Amino acid sequence: MWITEVALLGVVCQSIFAEQTTIRVPPIKPEADSYVCTSVPIDEAEHYITGFKAEVGESHNAHHILLFGCDEPGSSEIIWDCGEMSPLAGEGLDQAPTCASSPNILYAWAHNAPELTLPEGVAFRVGGNTKIQYLVMQIHYMKQQDQEDTSGVTLTHTKEPQPKTAATMLLVTGGVVPPKSTESFETACVIDESVELHPFAYRTHTHKHGVDVSGWIVQENEKGDDMWTLIGRRDPQLPQMFVPVSNQSIVIEQGDLLAARCILKNDENREITIGPTGSDEMCNFYIMYWADSDKVLQDNTCFSPGAPYYYWSSEANLNHIPL
Ligand SMILES: *[C@@H]1O[C@H](CO)[C@@H](O)[C@H](O)[C@H]1NC(C)=O
Repeated sequence: MWITEVALLGVVCQSIFAEQTTIRVPPIKPEADSYVCTSVPIDEAEHYITGFKAEVGESHNAHHILLFGCDEPGSSEIIWDCGEMSPLAGEGLDQAPTCASSPNILYAWAHNAPELTLPEGVAFRVGGNTKIQYLVMQIHYMKQQDQEDTSGVTLTHTKEPQPKTAATMLLVTGGVVPPKSTESFETACVIDESVELHPFAYRTHTHKHGVDVSGWIVQENEKGDDMWTLIGRRDPQLPQMFVPVSNQSIVIEQGDLLAARCILKNDENREITIGPTGSDEMCNFYIMYWADSDKVLQDNTCFSPGAPYYYWSSEANLNHIPL
C-alpha cells in the first residue's frame, strides 16, 4: 500500500511546472526515541530538486525529519531502524545506517523550526550518473505514538537542468571527553579543489553534551595572520535544522581553510567517546552551499581525530583563534 503513496521520481510531465513527489513512512506506531528510515530509488534520468516541504500533519508526531541522498540505502527493507540513539524503533525492524556509504544530507526539518528554501536557480542533482541513486528519509519520534504515523517530505523537482548545484559538506571529529570536564573538538581542512562555493545554510549536530558549535572560513593575510570569518554558530540544543549562514557574501575557494569546533561539556562520571550510539557524543558541522553548474566538491568530508589528539593550535598551526 505504501508503494502507491510514493510517486516515483521521473513520472513524465509535460507541464512547465515542476513535478512534486511525496515520500512517506509506511503507517507505523513508533516507540519513544526511535529513528525510522525508508528509501526510494530514483530512475535513470537526472532530476533537479528545487524545494522540500515537511508533511507532518496536524499531529506533528515527528520530532525531526532528515532526507539523505545515497548511492545505496543502509538496508534493502522498506522500513528499518536507523537510530543513532538506540532503542529499537519497533518489533522486528532491521537495524542499519541511513546509507550504505557516504550519506549526503539534503534536507532537515525539526519541530517548531522555520523552513529553509533553496536560493533561486539552485537545485540538488540526483539520479542519472550522480552519486545519489536513492533518497533515504529518516524520522525521529520523540514520544511513543498511539496512532499510526505517515509523516513525510514533499519534493519539488524537475528534469530541466538548473544553473546552480546545491551540495553539502560535513566537518566532523572523533575524540573523547574525560569525566567531569569540558573539551573543545576541532577540525580544519584546506580546500584543494578548484571550486567557488557559496555557503547559504549550515546545521550543527551533537547529542546532549554539546553547548556551542561553530564553523569558520580562515584566510591568511600577507603577514601570516589568520583571518577568521564566521559561517555559523549555534547552540546544538536548539532544533537541528539548516539555518541561513550569517554572512551571505562568503565565497570558499581553493586554498581557503574551513574549520569547525564543538564545545562538549561532560558532567557525568564516565568518559564519553565520539561514536554512533545515543550514549556516545558527536561533533558535526554541515555546510550547504551552491556552485555554478555542477562544480561541487568531490571530497565532501573534513575529519579530525578530535580531543585530546587534535587541536587547531597544535595540529593546524592556526593563530588568532576566536573564543
Ligand atoms: C562577510 O564575508 C566577507 C567575505 O568573506 C568578509 O569580507 C566580511 O568581513 C564578512 N563580514 C563579517 C561581518 O564577518
